[in-house]
Amino acid sequence: MKRAKLLIKHAEQIVQVCANNEDMLVGEAMRNIAVMKPEEGTSGLSLVIDREGNIADFGTDAILEAKYANWYFENVLDASGCCLLPGLVDAHTHPVWAGDRVHEFAMKLAGATYMEVHKAGGGINFTVEHTRNASEEELFVLFKERLQRMVKAGTTLVECKSGYGLDVENELKMLRVIERARRDDNINIEISSTYCGAHSVPKGSTADEATDDVISKQIPAIKAEMEMGKLHVDNIDVFCEKGVFDIMQTRRILEEGVKAGWRINFHGDELNPMKAAELGADMKACAISHLEEISDNGIAAMASVRSVAVILPTTAYILRLRAPPVRKMIESGVPMALGSDFNPNAFCLSMPLVMHLACVNLRMSMPEAIAASTINAAASLGRSRTHGSIEVGKRGNVLVIRAPKWEHLVYQLGGQNDIIAAVVCRGKIAYQNCKPEEA
Ligand code: NIG
Ligand code: FE
Repeated sequence: MKRAKLLIKHAEQIVQVCANNEDMLVGEAMRNIAVMKPEEGTSGLSLVIDREGNIADFGTDAILEAKYANWYFENVLDASGCCLLPGLVDAHTHPVWAGDRVHEFAMKLAGATYMEVHKAGGGINFTVEHTRNASEEELFVLFKERLQRMVKAGTTLVECKSGYGLDVENELKMLRVIERARRDDNINIEISSTYCGAHSVPKGSTADEATDDVISKQIPAIKAEMEMGKLHVDNIDVFCEKGVFDIMQTRRILEEGVKAGWRINFHGDELNPMKAAELGADMKACAISHLEEISDNGIAAMASVRSVAVILPTTAYILRLRAPPVRKMIESGVPMALGSDFNPNAFCLSMPLVMHLACVNLRMSMPEAIAASTINAAASLGRSRTHGSIEVGKRGNVLVIRAPKWEHLVYQLGGQNDIIAAVVCRGKIAYQNCKPEEA
């Protein structure tokens, strides 16, 4: 008897997002996402995930029922009254750290700015101290719990940065924690790993000294571990910001990352206009995050090389920053993704909440927000061939929501987790919330 991992049946809608193997959706195309609905008079929609954990087939219940009549499915989900979407992709997180910063949240509510807290020794450097003092095991336990909370909120692929170590030993410790989760069969979320040793200038160093340390010590040590098969890193990141790393230092570090075989994916133009978008476009960056202060030239440059803008609505919301010019970027053809920016400043693990903020505060439409949280977020990580849409051959990463229309996932502010019925990662049920019941 032929076998498959999972059959999901009787769904109301299948949100494919795209249906023609597009590597990203840009401009007008972000508004025209592919949504499959059952034809009038037919019962519902089914989806099959094969033994390798990839999408094998989907379509009308009756057709799939006949086609797979003699198959054995390891699991069956009844999705009556539910919609299926691609597993969400979170394009930007800092999830490995110890020591929260709830006290700084109070300071910021009382009027302190992000940079005032940072310069007073708080912010990233506070987290660096606590993360350096934590053991690999302690960090892993905290990280694992956060990943599980992301899964419950519908994320099946997440970008995870290091960057609270800032020296060889502690950056390696953070990357090892990420690697351990990547290889753990009990953690049902896929990870894209980012080295961000240039996230802040460590206490007692200048930015030039920190740049030299990243280039001459940290990157070679990571490369050596990669060559031994102990670590895997996908992307390189730098916090390019006034008072942190300037444009020249950022370029030097990113160039070194490219030589190591990593994709460029960095923080730019967040608090001050730095011409980071122009730099990133010139270096053919896969992605640039934040961009609240992007220039018009930066927008044109990113559009021309299709560097993905990773927009982080939580940051602007929490820090009460000027919103990034999202509408202008989309209309100018900049591919756009969303990320939670989960970190001790912005404690948010939920992409549905991020989509809601993006729609209300940044004026994105719901189709744009879902495209930005699936196919385009996958593109920002160089994974859109395998992730980010429901198409045959792609990863069997599926989100099942208990609602008659997929838009409820964005609409139900703060209640999104309640309607997430199941999260499937590589055909395995990673999370299930009462209904749909296993048939
Ligand atoms: O993306 N801006 C730099 N990095 C993070 C904040 C990290 C932190 O404050 O710990 C961000 O918002
Ligand atoms: Fe960040």
